[in-house]
Amino acid sequence: MTNAPTLGETAATPRDAADRNAEARPARSGWIPGTDRIAFGGDYNPEQWDRDVWVEDIALMKRAGISLVSIGIFSWALLEPREGEYEFGFLDEVMDLLHGAGISVDLGTPTAAPPAWFWRTYPEAHPVTRDGLRLGHGSRGMASPSSTAYRAAARGIADALGARYATHPALVLWHVHNEFGAPVSECYSPASAAAFRVWLQNRYGSLDALNAAWGTNFWGQRYGDWDEIDAPRTSPSIVNPAQRLDFARYTSNALLECFVAERDALKAHTPHIPVTTNFMATNCPSIDYWAWSREVDIVANDYYLVAERADNHVLLAMDADLTRSLAGGRPWILMEHSTGAVNWQPRNIAKRPGEMARNSLVSVARGADAVLFFQFRASRSGAEKFHSAMLPHGGTPTRIWREVEALGATLGGLDDVMGGSVPARVAILWDVESFWAQDLEWRPSVDLGHRERIVAFYTELWRRDVAVDFAHPHDDLSAYDVVLAPASYLLDAASAANLRGFVSEGGRLVSSYFSGIVDEHDAVPDGPYPAGLREVLGLRIDEFLPFRADESARLDDGSTGTVWADDIVLDGAEAVATFEDGPAAGRPGVTRNVYGTGSAWYVSTKLDGDDLGMLLERVLAEAGVESAAAHPVAGLERVERRTDEALFVFLANHGDTDVEVADVSGIDVATGESVSGLVVPGAATRVIRSELD
Ligand code: GLA
Repeated sequence: MTNAPTLGETAATPRDAADRNAEARPARSGWIPGTDRIAFGGDYNPEQWDRDVWVEDIALMKRAGISLVSIGIFSWALLEPREGEYEFGFLDEVMDLLHGAGISVDLGTPTAAPPAWFWRTYPEAHPVTRDGLRLGHGSRGMASPSSTAYRAAARGIADALGARYATHPALVLWHVHNEFGAPVSECYSPASAAAFRVWLQNRYGSLDALNAAWGTNFWGQRYGDWDEIDAPRTSPSIVNPAQRLDFARYTSNALLECFVAERDALKAHTPHIPVTTNFMATNCPSIDYWAWSREVDIVANDYYLVAERADNHVLLAMDADLTRSLAGGRPWILMEHSTGAVNWQPRNIAKRPGEMARNSLVSVARGADAVLFFQFRASRSGAEKFHSAMLPHGGTPTRIWREVEALGATLGGLDDVMGGSVPARVAILWDVESFWAQDLEWRPSVDLGHRERIVAFYTELWRRDVAVDFAHPHDDLSAYDVVLAPASYLLDAASAANLRGFVSEGGRLVSSYFSGIVDEHDAVPDGPYPAGLREVLGLRIDEFLPFRADESARLDDGSTGTVWADDIVLDGAEAVATFEDGPAAGRPGVTRNVYGTGSAWYVSTKLDGDDLGMLLERVLAEAGVESAAAHPVAGLERVERRTDEALFVFLANHGDTDVEVADVSGIDVATGESVSGLVVPGAATRVIRSELD
């Protein structure tokens, strides 16, 4: 038996945690047991095929060098055809066949797709949208995370799987659920509203504290009884923003409780087998992965290119860097990506030759020690039949299959990179609570965008081959020379103090507009903006001056700002650039303040491309952080990963033409040849190894 967490009472919400750094990340064990090679493989759904296909598949897996497959993720209806009655025959056989071929298993708990009997028996477990729509069956996806029936059923199947396969030699990893938070996360069912109230009682202790935190005297929202509080469902006008922010926190935590309950059920049987779940690092707006990463044994992540964007590989790099940061710098599993097109974007663009390998190898360069795909064999039925696979509908004669085999061979030569680190001296702040708050209604401009700003800052560093970590604003930042806060709308007192301490001890901080504006309750603290950052930035903001659509303003350093300006009053800072026109004409646009032994920069407008890149270059130079000459987005990406013994330089050419790289020497891992300078052909990737003394 496992100890089921009581609704709303497990894992403190991220900001409830007194000291985030007190708990090591990631939580517990090291790597996948018995694995000394970069794991290669993918989701495998044998229930969609006859037994003779399994045999053929496993032979092809061997041929491609596949070592790890994720199975059982959507098998609940087969494994528990009637409530409490288990039929493990097919899974037993698949597990045995895989083991016989030397392929390890990442065994899924199938709780992202409850069977038809579950929905018929427990209709109250259907999630309900903010508009009151009860979502139906016939698809897949989460039940209401606070449904006691769902939690019991999920724990039941996890417990049964744990008991059945505890000693199976193929089992090396547990894969709980599938992409918690997608496609739905928030649920407004009666059970969720009740659990939200319990969560609030735990958080605030008293109604007075809640009324104060939520500012309920505004619009006469004061509560006199806990039962008067509802989930923040669609209302005539906008709902209290602090209430919505808390509901987002409650939701992330409710989903985390579901993960923890399953994990603990499995751990009771297999304390030695690591447990993970697949994150969507930059792409799951509803989950605070900093809190989640403390609960998994190994961080695993899914990433799909935004196919139509020309910079989609930059977004992939950013996602990989965030994933590595969530893993505390330790290796992580690329649990899913695609060999070619997906099927769920407006236009599902095929990957070009070489692109799959670049995506995979850049992930390894950025810390992944496992490269898996969705999925091994392309489905013939169902919603995903037009999604690419390792083995496409066209079978082994296809280019994709040939590239899969080639990738298996390439990864086979990279085992020595395992466990390597990606040292970074720059961190970008990433705080999903701030994103939740900023995304609420009635902000000063619709053109404000936290993700857009973070991508813009990240891209300019990427173009200059600068290694970047992501950090939570509560984290110990002392390992970094430069911290970027392009979008820190919500900054609680502890975060602001942390940033002040970072700068006073010699760090360089770059903050940008609409940062440091509200506290953890989405309330504006006393005094001028930006409350906690006024002192370190050496300025105050008298007024926001958002631009009209398509308006721009020139600065006297030659750069151009759009979207935003502030009416800045300097209080110790110097103006680095001043607006020449626009709503803030004559006012500072970019400032720098010496504070302690460091300096803090403020960018009050939306700078893009080289305007932003040149400014960041100045900050990096001041901090003594090396940066390369800026290269185009469709250019050569260079990433360094190092172990105690060797430096691995990954060179991925995202353009069509050859790129010469003069300053790299060592052994080309693919050919074994010694190189001193090399040409990376268009679309190709090279990995060069050099020994460290
Ligand atoms: C997600 C899911 C998979 C599959 C892929 C398709 O990542 O986890 O089951 O649906 O998308 O891209």
